[in-house]
Amino acid sequence: MTNTQTTPAPTWQNRWTFILAATGSAVGLGNIWKFPYITGEYGGGAFVLVYLACILLIGVPVMIAEVLLGRLGKSDPIHSMTRLSIDARVSKSWSIVGISGVLAGLMILSFYSVVAGWAIEYVIATFRGDFANADKDGIAAQFSALLVNKQDLITYHSIFIAVTATIIAFGASRGIGIAVRVLMPVLFILLLVLLGYGIQEGDFRSALHFMFSPDFSKLSGDAVLVALGHAFFTLSLGMGAIMTYGAYMPQTSSVAKTVVTVAVLDTVIALIAGLAIFPLVFANGLEPSSGPGLMFVSLPIAFGSISNGAIFGGLFFVLVSIAALSSSISLIEPGVAWLERLNVKRWIGTLCLTLIAWGGGMACIYSNDWLETQNAWGAFEWLEHIASNIMLPLGGLFIAIFVGWKLRRGLVRKNIGIQKELFFNIWYGVLRIIAPLGIIVVFLKAVNIV
Ligand code: PHE
Repeated sequence: MTNTQTTPAPTWQNRWTFILAATGSAVGLGNIWKFPYITGEYGGGAFVLVYLACILLIGVPVMIAEVLLGRLGKSDPIHSMTRLSIDARVSKSWSIVGISGVLAGLMILSFYSVVAGWAIEYVIATFRGDFANADKDGIAAQFSALLVNKQDLITYHSIFIAVTATIIAFGASRGIGIAVRVLMPVLFILLLVLLGYGIQEGDFRSALHFMFSPDFSKLSGDAVLVALGHAFFTLSLGMGAIMTYGAYMPQTSSVAKTVVTVAVLDTVIALIAGLAIFPLVFANGLEPSSGPGLMFVSLPIAFGSISNGAIFGGLFFVLVSIAALSSSISLIEPGVAWLERLNVKRWIGTLCLTLIAWGGGMACIYSNDWLETQNAWGAFEWLEHIASNIMLPLGGLFIAIFVGWKLRRGLVRKNIGIQKELFFNIWYGVLRIIAPLGIIVVFLKAVNIV
């Protein structure tokens, strides 16, 4: 069924290399910056519960399907989808899944790199000791000052895009495994230290209560959509990144086990980030719903008061920036791989796509009056909303339908690497029925139809 004539893409040396690359893609600003701030915005417990349900019932099954598509298609998302739809004798317009993925990647990178720019700025500010003994008002004022300093916003956004482009242009994205293997564990340990600080010095009880006791009256249709969108965003799902990485996965390894490993790591890191940030928020009278700045106005409180906080905090932001980098390269890799297949030189493809994302970031910087307009949306909110909450879940819906209903069951069964018939049937059933229905219900709820 799949075309065995073409030269297969180079495979990862072993399953761990794939796990590292996929984890590098999944773990990023989504976990440490976005999860806490949207949890704060959408009221805590009930939102977290819906998010966890989306990860389990929709994210993981769809992620398994997306890796499988990559493994069978052995190419970038657009070519993979075209080839697989020819093999499955269905319309070639299924390649739209790949096209929308490349677009979504560009849109996400646009605002992602602006926020990564904040993190880079904070590396410098923290090492410089700007937060030493600063109180929460001082820290909030520093963040506000950054947001109105267009020159700095542009500089750091541009630096981040340039570094991303350089890594991609040299084709080093697969080598990122090394960075992930060494630096992710360090980031994880630093998060644990921050968690310890939160438990000792912050209001940990309130944080636990806020994050884990669901109040469903706070759950709007919007909140459910954002939770679903974030399940896709945080797992790097629905836009071809995981498909592209899946193309390099060795045939022998189990897709399901690998995906579960990545999803668990990703979820644990997000929860720990939340549990580190909210005790500081509550102990210092910060607003949980203060928006995208939440991490930047809460964590420096810890860095300002612990011993060697400047070094510790600076290192933390270095690692956050690197985690953002290993995600950003996966946002752009599918598009570059696609252009490469069309015989566009890798560096030219990289230059074109990263320039588009850079322009998108500039649009965010110029259209967002970050401080005043809580309610008016600028490019930042629009890009984030359309790409994460609509395009990624739609991509996921089509992936679920394609693998669940269009590919031959036998082909799926043979390549999925799930040994036990029972487990396979559970996954297959969830993918065919529960995941698509779940996504559709969330969409309907968001527009108030159910
Ligand atoms: N998963 C990444 C994060 O949590 C963001 C991302 C989304 C990366 C989509 C690739 C694709 O930061």
